[in-house]
Parts: sequence; C-alpha cells; structure tokens
Amino acid sequence: MIDALPTDFLFPPSRISTRVDASLGSASHVGTRLHELGILSSDAESTVLVVGDLGAVEVFDRVEASLTACGARVEWHRIEPSESIKVQATADRIVEWAIERGVDRGTPILAVGGGIVCDLVGHVAGTLLRGIPLALVPTTLLSMVDAAFGGKTGVNVPLSGGRLGRNLVGGFHPARVVVADVSTLATLPDRDLRAGLAECVKHGWVDGEEHLSWLEARADELTADGAIRKIALRDLVRRSIVVKAGIVTRDPLERGERRFLNLGHTFAHAIEARPGNRWRHGEAVAIGLVAAAAASEAAGCAESGVLERTRALLGRLGLPVVLGDAPPATELRELMALDKKRSGRALRLVLPIRPGVIEVLESPAEEVVAAGWAAVGATA
Ligand SMILES: NC(=O)c1ccc[n+]([C@@H]2O[C@H](COP(=O)([O-])OP(=O)(O)OC[C@H]3O[C@@H](n4cnc5c(N)ncnc54)[C@H](O)[C@@H]3O)[C@@H](O)[C@H]2O)c1
Repeated sequence: MIDALPTDFLFPPSRISTRVDASLGSASHVGTRLHELGILSSDAESTVLVVGDLGAVEVFDRVEASLTACGARVEWHRIEPSESIKVQATADRIVEWAIERGVDRGTPILAVGGGIVCDLVGHVAGTLLRGIPLALVPTTLLSMVDAAFGGKTGVNVPLSGGRLGRNLVGGFHPARVVVADVSTLATLPDRDLRAGLAECVKHGWVDGEEHLSWLEARADELTADGAIRKIALRDLVRRSIVVKAGIVTRDPLERGERRFLNLGHTFAHAIEARPGNRWRHGEAVAIGLVAAAAASEAAGCAESGVLERTRALLGRLGLPVVLGDAPPATELRELMALDKKRSGRALRLVLPIRPGVIEVLESPAEEVVAAGWAAVGATA
C-alpha cells in the first residue's frame, strides 16, 4: 500500500505539481530536486532564499551544500518559531529581506523547519510578486505528514483580549518540491514528535480500518527508542503523505472530502485561541479528536466504541486527551466562533462515524458541542 507514494501530485486550481521526495537522506538532495524541475538553472548563478527554523539548525549545512552543489547562491534568514510570531508582521519582514536580496518571480524560496515556518514562508511565497516558487524541507513530524502538503499557507491574527485567530489570513500556494527526510527528526524533542502523531491518528480515522489498525499495532514502536522507531516513522510518514496527497489532489479547495482533514480541528483551534495557550498544535488536535468523537457519540452519529478507541490510541502514543486546567466550556464555545470552517455564523463540526467514514455536521445542537467539551474536562 505504501509503495503507492506519489513522486508528483497535482494541485489542480494552480496547475502546480508538487514533487515529493520522502526517502531517507533526501534533505541532502533538495538542490537536485529543484534542478530537475528547472527551478535552479545550471547556466546562470541563481539565488535561493532560505528561511530556516533555528530548531532545525542541524539540517542547515546539508541543505546549503545541496544547493551550492547545484550552483546556487544561498541567502539565509533564521527564525525562532512560535505561534505568536506566525503573524503578518513577520511575513512582512521576510518580504523586506527578500526584496533587499533582489528577489524576482523566478527566485525560489525554501523553508527548512516545522509547520510554523512552512506556513509563514508559504504565505510569503504565495503573495510576494504574486507568487514565487516554493520548496519545503519539513523537519518536524507534523510538518512532514501534514503542513507541507496541500498548498494551505497562512498566518495567525492577534485579536483583542490576548486571543489568537488561527491561520485566518492566508491562501493556497503549493510547494513545487517537498523533501520529507525522517533522518531530520533525530533532534526533534519527544514532545514535538508525539504532537505530530496526532495528525497521523487523524489520517488513520479518515483513511479507514486498515490504517487505524496499523497505527494501533505500531503504537509501541512509534514511541520506542532508536532504530525501531525510525523505521516505524518512515512507514508512518509515507502512509500519511499518501492519504493527504490523495485527498488534496481530489479536492484541493476543501469543498468536499478535504473537510474531513479538519477532524478535531474546530475544537483544537478554540483551545489554541485561548490567551496563554500552552498546548502544541498537535496536542490540541489530540484533545480535539477526543472532543469530536464524544460529540459524534452525543449526536448519535458514531458507531459504538469510537470515543474509547480514539482515547486509547492517543493515550498509548503519549498524547493528552483532556484539558488539564478545567476551563469553562462557555469560553471555549465562544472561541469556536473564530474558526474559519464555520459557515456564516453557524458552526460546522467534522465528526468520526467509524474508521474511513467521516461526516460534516452543520449547525450542531448545543448539547452536542457541550458533550465534546465535557469529554475533555471543560467545566459546564
Ligand atoms: N498548512 C497546513 O496545511 C497545516 C497543517 C497542519 C498544521 N499546520 C501548522 O503547523 C504548525 C505546527 O507545526 P509543528 O508542529 O511543526 O510546530 P513548530 O513549527 O512550532 O515546530 C515545533 C518545534 O520544533 C522545532 N524544530 C523544528 N524542526 C526541528 C528539528 N529537526 N529538531 C529539533 N527541533 C526542531 C521548532 O523550532 C519548534 O520549536 C501550526 O502553526 C499549524 O497551524 C499547517
């Protein structure tokens, strides 16, 4: 099944095709991938703009060497990522830096880092000069299996009262090249690695029984130390890429099945919008998956056992399944209104029915939403 990993997949509206290299060591070949597509030319010295996530500093030399080997001049801009700097002001600084380095419409910009840097640089690439070629070297599990694929870019919007509107400004600008090299995860802190597993669990639910059972069977290997984990992660990344690439190719603009990939996210984004939020995105997604499963059971949609199965797998993967500080459900319910997946003023929930069957529930009853929040420890 995982042999079906695409090497190129098309994003129909933009006609941009993404070349994927998910082989071990591929971070050292990003220059070659750009060269193959004619984005780097061997005739003239080309400039490549690289925005690097300081967490992924160990990967910088490999990327630089691969670009210079293809005759490129490399300009670096380094970033210490956080959700609070994933905002338009940071994008503006990157734009200014790029303009000062003589960017033109053919100049590629490359992000090396986690989902925050990939989203920020994607947003810049999609808007600067009305679009320049984008390449991504995701270096967190979450960005390898999710953020780097599918063309969504974006920044957060700081709102009154310390709230953060998640990804409210952005567009669709797919990368020309994505290099997902599991060996770059060697330095990733365990907490960030586990956070990425939440999006993989989401993919399991969306894809179906075989995928979800595979995750359950491999949960111990995915949390083990050493070589066993590396092999399991390589297989996991390939499985998740197949799921995401398939869905975004069929439904690039999220009018149908791509909405299923928002499973858990309406709850997660409310958690992340809270002032002083302490959860990683993937951790908020894990809690959101539990809340969505509970809401699905409360709505009478889910087959029996969906909530228990979701909780059990996330727990085994070392992910949070409750909010520790018992926030009021009313506050969280209000924050859900900031979610961009709502339709007009009505809320839209994405609910698991059984593995491989997901439904979008428009304007859910308040008891259904409340059941979701209660299941993750919010107070009534
Ligand atoms: N565009 C999309 O479709 C999409 C999909 C899912 C998530 N996202 C976005 O992705 C973001 C979350 O991404 P994330 O989980 O990668 O978090 P992140 O970008 O915050 O990275 C997590 C941490 O890991 C560090 N890091 C990165 N690579 C490292 C490495 N190899 N070794 C050591 N440390 C490393 C970073 O510096 C950071 O401290 C959110 O902003 C979310 O909205 C976007």
